[in-house]
Parts: sequence; structure tokens; C-alpha cells
Amino acid sequence: MRFLRDCISVLLFCSTLLLIVEVATPIDTINTTLSIRDGDTIVSAGGTYELGFFSPGKSTNRYLGIWYGKISVQTAVWVANRESPLNDSSGVVRLTNQGLLVLVNRSGSIIWSSNTSTPARNPVAQLLDSGNLVVKEEGDNNVENSLWQSFEHPGNTLIPGMKIGRNRVTGMDWSLAAWKSQDDPSRGNITGILVPYGYPELVELEDSKVKYRSGPWNGLGFSGMPPLKPNPIYTYEFVFNEKEIFYREQLVNSSMHWRIVLAQNGDIQQLLWIEKTQSWFLYETENINNCARYKLCGANGICRINNSPVCDCLSGFVPKVPRDWERTDWSSGCIRKTALNCSGDGFRKVSGVKLPETRQSWFNKSMSLEECRNTCLKNCSCTAYANMDVRNGGSGCLLWFNDLIDILFQDEKDTIFIRMAASELGNGDSAKVNTKSNAKKRIVVSIVLSTGLVFLGLVLVLLLHVWRKQQQKKRDLPSGSNNNDMKEELELPFFTMDELASATNNFSDANKLGEGGFGPVYKGTLADGREIAVKRLSKNSRQGLDEFKNEVKHIVKLQHRNLVRLLGCCIERDEKMLVYEFLPNKSLDFYIFDETHSLLLDWPKRYNIINGIARGLLYLHQDSRLRIIHRDLKTSNILLDYEMNPKISDFGLARSFGENETEASTNKVAGTYGYISPEYANYGLYSLKSDVFSFGVLVLEIVSGCRNRGFSHPDHHLNLIGHAWILFKQGRSLELAGESKVETPYLSEVLRSIHVGLLCVQENTEDRPNMSYVILMLGNEDELPQPKQPGFFTERDLIEACYSSSQCKPPSANECSISLLEAR
Ligand SMILES: *[C@@H]1O[C@H](CO)[C@@H](O)[C@H](O)[C@H]1NC(C)=O
Ligand SMILES: *[C@@H]1O[C@H](CO)[C@@H](O)[C@H](O)[C@H]1NC(C)=O
Ligand SMILES: *[C@@H]1O[C@H](CO)[C@@H](O)[C@H](O)[C@H]1NC(C)=O
Ligand SMILES: *[C@@H]1O[C@H](CO)[C@@H](O)[C@H](O)[C@H]1NC(C)=O
Ligand SMILES: *[C@@H]1O[C@H](CO)[C@@H](O)[C@H](O)[C@H]1NC(C)=O
Ligand SMILES: *[C@@H]1O[C@H](CO)[C@@H](O)[C@H](O)[C@H]1NC(C)=O
Ligand SMILES: *[C@@H]1O[C@H](CO)[C@@H](O)[C@H](O)[C@H]1NC(C)=O
Ligand SMILES: *[C@@H]1O[C@H](CO)[C@@H](O)[C@H](O)[C@H]1NC(C)=O
Ligand SMILES: *[C@@H]1O[C@H](CO)[C@@H](O)[C@H](O)[C@H]1NC(C)=O
Repeated sequence: MRFLRDCISVLLFCSTLLLIVEVATPIDTINTTLSIRDGDTIVSAGGTYELGFFSPGKSTNRYLGIWYGKISVQTAVWVANRESPLNDSSGVVRLTNQGLLVLVNRSGSIIWSSNTSTPARNPVAQLLDSGNLVVKEEGDNNVENSLWQSFEHPGNTLIPGMKIGRNRVTGMDWSLAAWKSQDDPSRGNITGILVPYGYPELVELEDSKVKYRSGPWNGLGFSGMPPLKPNPIYTYEFVFNEKEIFYREQLVNSSMHWRIVLAQNGDIQQLLWIEKTQSWFLYETENINNCARYKLCGANGICRINNSPVCDCLSGFVPKVPRDWERTDWSSGCIRKTALNCSGDGFRKVSGVKLPETRQSWFNKSMSLEECRNTCLKNCSCTAYANMDVRNGGSGCLLWFNDLIDILFQDEKDTIFIRMAASELGNGDSAKVNTKSNAKKRIVVSIVLSTGLVFLGLVLVLLLHVWRKQQQKKRDLPSGSNNNDMKEELELPFFTMDELASATNNFSDANKLGEGGFGPVYKGTLADGREIAVKRLSKNSRQGLDEFKNEVKHIVKLQHRNLVRLLGCCIERDEKMLVYEFLPNKSLDFYIFDETHSLLLDWPKRYNIINGIARGLLYLHQDSRLRIIHRDLKTSNILLDYEMNPKISDFGLARSFGENETEASTNKVAGTYGYISPEYANYGLYSLKSDVFSFGVLVLEIVSGCRNRGFSHPDHHLNLIGHAWILFKQGRSLELAGESKVETPYLSEVLRSIHVGLLCVQENTEDRPNMSYVILMLGNEDELPQPKQPGFFTERDLIEACYSSSQCKPPSANECSISLLEAR
């Protein structure tokens, strides 16, 4: 009896084992006798991708989808029944004898099906290691011959090998459609398509309105996108022939994971999987700056990201409705000052632009630029021409008719020739007009030219006069008039070395306010009585003088009540100094970490400080023209004014002194441990979300009055982040603030701040909110998303990161802080 029982249990055990084995065995081919149920997983031959049923985010619905096989975070790259979810786990996938993949629910209704037009003989479906699910004839391994492939039906994600574009034979589009939300993969209102009219370009639509366009392909990349460079992650191609038009990327190293996602907010994100942090890193977002907004400046307008306001008319054009234009409503665009005269026009060369919209353009791949020009001249409605391909000195011809739409200035980009009435052309070779009757024209041109020059001279004299007047009247900022470059740099207030030396008592130690990451800071009083803070930058910056001036010129224009105002600079010999407004109340660390001083900051003041920092940061990240990542946000960089309003300092310096800003990674890490994010410390990868992490640390520090680094607690060895997380999980968050210290009406704000702080210090950059969302969360009562375990949870993590980033040197005794300026 007992033997029998044992036997049965062994048998049971064995059959369970068998079952488990059967389910777990990777199969990558589905044939007509096989069906896939919810819980089964199809694994591609190399294990890179898996097919099965899943529930996205918080949804309980079941979807048939493809996700990464070797990645701990389930990341769906394709969803079959995105519009028709199953509400239970009864879904079954079969391959029919005709070669259709069908998904049926409990009652046997077809919920989703693939669409194969040609009937099949021996169909099999296979999940290829590229992530492509194909239906094909058994034995035919040529993907091109597939009866159906998931790559032809993209969702919101483009993975390597997938095309975005159009099959010109069948007329089928390979386009992207964002999800409705994280939890709902059905089509949202954002789509990404390749416009097949005129000369093709990629376009993002919100509902059916254009939101962003890539600009046409110029041989090297899309005219309006960051330049594509040979890189270690992917290669790219743009194919345009009779059969198809598409853009596609391929992985350089197939063991990497790389995807492009059209997010529901319209961002085009490029994400790279980082093995070490087990998270997706946002490598680049394509379409984020102000000028990226389609047609922002209207017809014949031009957007300059570094200008304020950003919109201008093309030269030779004036605002159509000047009153709207002044109110920064640019939608009505610009019109010509002088109408075109079909027979006597010329062209103005405009370089460094994103080419205007090409959906009505005409093109010819084999024409030269000269032929292109003549073709344009012959057609009275042609308004501009350009080379199609900028490689090898340029080739091909693109012509525009009517208004020019969505042009913006950007470095290293394309050149366009814009048709102008002869009288509008004032200078040089761009004024060469029709090739006939040259002699006459030349006279006209030279008259125009010389009048132009005289006029220009007059304007200059006038400008100089006005400027002098202003300088005299204002006496606002003393100017180093000995500087020869001053004429070009009217906007940039200069101070002389002598002025600053006498203001700061010859940079005496008594005047020294502190030592920042980039050099010492001195208090000073100008001759007119104004108080200033002078930052004397370390001398070993490798940045050139012109770049420095250029950067400062931009930073000077940043104005926000939560940013310390930069008043000007001083450049003399090898000295570079920045002059700021002086704030009397010291920095935040002086208050919050000191038992006595911290009494001066009650909760409403603290909450005001948290909100102020958030607003200042949002301005840097999003609302200013420069999109600055601070990179060294910490309590000592938050200064307080008379009313204890916070002001962020040292912004823009990271940019001035940082690496080339187009690169999202740097091998030198600037910043202060305790505040810097895991991906930055470990890999030198930074993004706006690195600042969000630092902001989260700041919030926790402001609430608790403890430093993250060096935090100690009798019960554990976690840092402040870890401590806050433990308390949060146990529902004891208020203890972080010292329960008794906060008055009852404010308790919900305290809890909310801690919650938001924890969301900001998430390990995974994708899990961190952006600053506008932070402000939203702080400002209302809605339910907040649940944080996961934060990054840099323990002090040991930090020390290790410290070691590894400072190239195995032990961290210095007090603070493991590295700045870019420290010589290596
Ligand atoms: C279908 O696949 C199953 C499992 O791999 C296999 O046992 C069966 O023989 C296959 N049938 C055909 C017709 O290939
Ligand atoms: C799913 O939907 C069907 C039909 O609407 C319904 O009968 C069934 O109860 C639902 N199942 C669940 C688990 O909600
Ligand atoms: C199956 O799908 C059909 C069609 O969508 C639907 O009417 C039916 O309620 C579904 N049955 C279940 C059990 O979900
Ligand atoms: C299936 O394909 C046919 C022709 O190729 C097309 O007309 C039809 O819209 C497709 N149906 C779906 C659901 O994609
Ligand atoms: C698109 O959807 C988002 C949220 O899903 C919404 O905020 C936005 O207003 C929608 N846009 C339009 C034009 O309807
Ligand atoms: C590809 O990447 C993996 C891990 O990222 C690395 O181990 C491997 O050496 C790389 N292979 C090549 C050929 O670069
Ligand atoms: C166009 O220009 C030519 C030569 O400058 C002139 O003769 C002609 O009158 C102009 N036509 C118009 C419509 O302005
Ligand atoms: C393109 O230009 C070439 C060279 O000028 C010419 O031979 C060809 O006919 C043109 N093609 C079209 C379609 O206009
Ligand atoms: C000028 O080009 C437009 C657009 O291609 C065309 O419709 C028109 O016929 C052309 N006019 C002349 C005179 O060639």
C-alpha cells in the first residue's frame, strides 16, 4: 500500500516535471498541429526574443506579444491584438492550413488574425532571433519570401532590422503608432509615418496634424535630426527606389539591445539596455527642443533655438501680421518684402538649416546644382532649390514651390538657395542673376550693392551711437571698453580685472564665500554699491576663449526667479571669472543640516524651497532655449534670497565646461557623490533624468535634514535613500521628517514630497518622472505612482561607484567629489 502511494507520488512528481519541461522547452516554430496557450512561451533560436501572452503595466488584460528573452524587465516590442485585448487567460494561437495565425478566445471567436493573401501549402510560423515573427512555407528560409511577417506591422517600437517607410509595390505603409498609455497598447493619437509624397521624409502626427518632421534625407542623415554618425551601436540606411522607401537601423553587435520607441507623449526615444544596471538608458530623444515643433514660425519663418524669441522671418521677408508676431503668435508667418519678378530674380544662399517641408517638392537625382538652379529659374512658382545629397560636394536637385515651411537654423546642416527679387539681394555671389544680359544686371547689382553698403555703414554708425548713449545712460554695468571684441559682444556685460579686484578687496580670504566645483567664490561690492559674487574659474579649463564667451553669452540670458542671475564675466589674460548677483542668505546646506539653523526653516518654507528648485530646474530642462542639464545639483548649489526663496546656482557651467553636448556620455564624471545618479556614476551616461535623481536626493534631504552621503542609522547600513525607502514600505514615512516637528495640516505635503522624492531616485531612468510631472505631482492631490526600490540604495553602492569612476583610486577622505576642472 505504502509502496503504491510512493509510486504514485513519484509518478505524479515525474509528470509534473514532464509538464514543466514541456512548457519550458524553447520552440521557435509553430506548425498547423500546434497551438500556443496563455502561459506557453515561444523562444527564438538564439533566445533573444520570446513570444507569448502578457499583461502590460498595471493592466490585467492579456495580449499576444513579443518581448526580449534575455532582459529582466519585460519589454514588449510588438503586440498582436493591441486593439482587442483578452480579458482572461483563455487565449489560444493557431496556425491554419491556409497560413493564417489566428488568436481565439474562450468562446472560439477570432480576436485577431494575421493577414496573408497568398494561400500556403505547408505553412509554419517561426520567431526569428531578430524578433520577427514570420509565416512561411516550410523549408523556405528566405525572409523576403515570407507569407506574413510581424516586421511589416510595427507597433510603437522599431527594433533593429525593422523598416519605417512604404512598400511602393503593394502600397503598404510600415508606420508606428504610440500606445494609449503604459497599460494600454491600443493605438494612441500619435503616429510616425514616412510621407511618400514629394521627396520623402519622416513625420510625426498627433491625430492627423503634423507635430514634427525629420526633414528630407540628405545622404548622411535626415536634414532636421541630430547628425547620424558612425557609432558603436547601430548602422543605418535610407533606401529609396521604385519598390520601396524606408529607413532602417541594424545592430553592430547583436548581443546589444536597442530600440526606438514612439512614446505616447510624442517623444521619439532611442533606448539602450545597460546590462550592469539592468535598465533601459534613454540614449537620445529626437524631437524635444522648441524649434522641433512643426511650423512654429509659420510660412517663410525661421526658428533659431538660441534666440529669444526663437522665430524670425527669413531675410527679405516681413511678418504678415506684425501685431500677432509681436505677441509671439507666429502662425501667420512671413511674406516677401519685394514680390518676385519672374524674369529678373536671383537666389540667396542660406546655410546651416533644416530643409523646409518637401511633401510638394520636385526632385531629380542626377541633376547638378547649376542645372537645378536653372530649372528653378525657368518655373515662376519655384521658390527655392537645394542639393538632394550633400555627400561628395553635393548632387541631385530638390525644388520647392510656394511657401517655405518649417525651416530652422542648426549647425553643420544643409544649404538652401531661396529665390529673391533682384532688389533684395545685396551681396556677393549669391546675387548673380539670370545668365543672359549679364552686363546690365551687373550694373544694377553694383548700384544696389553700393547703396546697400552706404546704408549698412549708416546703420552701423547709428547703432554704435545708440549703444554709447545707452551705456552712458545706464551705467548699469561697468564695461571693459579696452576689449576689442566688444563691438560684437554688445549683449555680454564685461567687467575688468581691476574692477573685480577692487570689489573683492583683491580677492582676499576675508571675502571668500566658499569653494565651488569650478573654483573659489568671493563676495564683492562694485563701485556703485551693488553686491556681487565673483566666481574665479580654475585656470586649467581646456575650453577656448570664444566658446567660453559664447556660452556665457547664452547663460546670461537665462532668467528665472529660481536661478541665480549671472551679471557678466571677466576675461583677462588667462583668468576667467563669472559675476553673479549676491545672495545674502547663504546656501541651503547651511540651514538644513544644522540643528539650530534648521529651526529657521519651517515646513511651509521647506515646501516652498522644494517647489522653487523644481521650477528652476524645469526652466533649465525645458523652458529655456538652451536645455541645460545641471549635473551638479546639491544643497550647497541652492542659494537663498532674503525671503528664503531658493535660487539654483552653477547652472550652465557644466555645459560650458562639459564635453560636446551632443554626446550623451562622458568619460569624466562631474558632480558630487551622494547626488549623482547610478547611470552617470557608473557609465558617465547623463540625461535630464540624472538631474531628476539629484533633485530627488535634495527633496529627501530637505525633508529629513540629513545628508544622503554619510547618513548613519543604528538599525542598518543604508544611506538616506535606503532609509527613506524602508520607512516608506513600512508606511512610516513621517518618521523621516521627525513626526513631532511638522504641524498636522502639513503632514500630507510632507508625505507627498517624500513619495515624489523616491520616484525621482528610481534606479531606472524611465521610472523617474520629468520635472514638469514632478511639479504637477507636488501641486495636486492625485494618486501617485508607486515607487520601486530606488537606485544607490546602500552606502556601499556609492563607495563602489566612487572607486570605479575615479579609476580605482580610493575616494578622498571627506567627499568623493570630482570636477571636470580637476586636472588629470
Ligand atoms: C508540428 O510540431 C510538433 C511539435 O514540434 C511535432 O511533433 C509535429 O510532428 C509537427 N507536425 C508537422 C506536420 O510538422
Ligand atoms: C470576459 O468577457 C466575457 C464577455 O464579455 C465575460 O462573459 C467574462 O465574464 C469576462 N471574464 C472576466 C474574467 O472578466
Ligand atoms: C470572444 O470574443 C467575441 C468577439 O469579440 C465576444 O463577443 C465574446 O464575448 C468573447 N468571449 C469571451 C468568453 O470572452
Ligand atoms: C488584409 O489584406 C487585404 C489585402 O491585402 C487588405 O485589403 C485588408 O485591409 C487587410 N486586412 C487587415 C485586417 O489588415
Ligand atoms: C492625444 O492624447 C493625449 C493623451 O492620450 C492627450 O493629452 C492629447 O490631448 C491628445 N491630443 C489630441 C490632439 O487629441
Ligand atoms: C558584443 O557585446 C558583448 C556584450 O555587450 C561583448 O561581450 C562582446 O564582446 C561584443 N562583441 C563584439 C564582437 O564586439
Ligand atoms: C521685371 O524685371 C525686368 C528687368 O528688371 C523689368 O523689365 C520688368 O518690367 C519687371 N517686371 C515686373 C512685372 O516687375
Ligand atoms: C533628371 O535630370 C537629368 C539630367 O539633367 C535628365 O537627363 C533627366 O531627364 C531628368 N529626369 C527627370 C525625371 O526629369
Ligand atoms: C512649375 O512647377 C509646377 C510644379 O511642379 C508645375 O505644376 C508647373 O506646371 C510648372 N510651370 C512651368 C511653367 O513649368
